[in-house]
Amino acid sequence: MFDLKNYIQERKEVIDKALERYLPKPAGPEGKVIEAMRYSVSAGGKRVRPILLMAACDAVGGDSKELLPAACALECVHTYSLIHDDLPAMDDDDLRRGKPTCHKVFGEAIAILAGDGLLTYAFELMAHDDLLKNCGSDLVTKAIYIFSKAAGVSGMVGGQTADVLFEGKPVDAETLAYIHSHKTGALIRASVEMGAILGRGDQNQIERLSSFGTALGLAFQVIDDLLDVVGDEEKLGKPVGSDIKNQKATYPALFGIEETRKRANELKEQALSALSAFGEEAEPLRAIARYVVERDR
Ligand code: IPE
Ligand code: IPE
Ligand code: MG
Ligand code: MG
Ligand code: MG
Repeated sequence: MFDLKNYIQERKEVIDKALERYLPKPAGPEGKVIEAMRYSVSAGGKRVRPILLMAACDAVGGDSKELLPAACALECVHTYSLIHDDLPAMDDDDLRRGKPTCHKVFGEAIAILAGDGLLTYAFELMAHDDLLKNCGSDLVTKAIYIFSKAAGVSGMVGGQTADVLFEGKPVDAETLAYIHSHKTGALIRASVEMGAILGRGDQNQIERLSSFGTALGLAFQVIDDLLDVVGDEEKLGKPVGSDIKNQKATYPALFGIEETRKRANELKEQALSALSAFGEEAEPLRAIARYVVERDR
């Protein structure tokens, strides 16, 4: 039996160390914003996206330790999205990763800038020598294209825009799937795809892993919605009931709790079947897919 708990813990330690090493150190007049960037990154977090990047790389026979700058870059973009998502102008939440949100500690101006700083720094990391010398500029350029599309208006920014515009408005299933697969699904799919590309996977492997990431990414946000209703604030490290407060378009609001679970399980099965051509090397990805749907944090 594959020991996911141990696997996640080991990977998390490696990623956390790399983040500590690669993030800029507070100094000079810009020290405050770097402090805020580090505060939000190091507050905790499951590191799902970097772990997925590495697991996808391993699944195609690559050496995932070579991808640490890209792993850190994904966590930088994800953390930026959380900092901005929590701002008063967006979800207006006070708790994140078990700590007061960035704007509560550093003020709104520094929180906005910390998000900007993390987003930009991610692409500095993608051009880091440590990644270029391991993967070569052709593969790194492909990965940057996937990454920037997933983070920007075609992906996360587009999804967050729809998320805000549909507050308090009725949505149909198709619109809801658009919001979720863009605001959250896109970056998760990109994490897996980037791992497959940088790990020198062939086209067929990349396509299968992309399908896996698409299903898993949507499932991830479906469960995030569910946890906003049935989760525990202490475990989640963020407020429950935030979506209800903001009248967000969510799966539980549109379909109810039971149907939401059912849809998440269908997406998990879809994700798993995309891996059917892989052997034991994809066992971590399979275990992560099950975890995403069963998680309580
Ligand atoms: C929360 O993401 C926001 C979403 C995109 C659903 P995570 O659940 O991965 O948050 P952390 O990184 O563990 O804090
Ligand atoms: C956020 O979705 C997705 C992002 C791109 C940050 P949510 O607003 O549901 O995320 P949480 O619940 O605050 O983590
Ligand atoms: Mg939000
Ligand atoms: Mg939110
Ligand atoms: Mg949520």
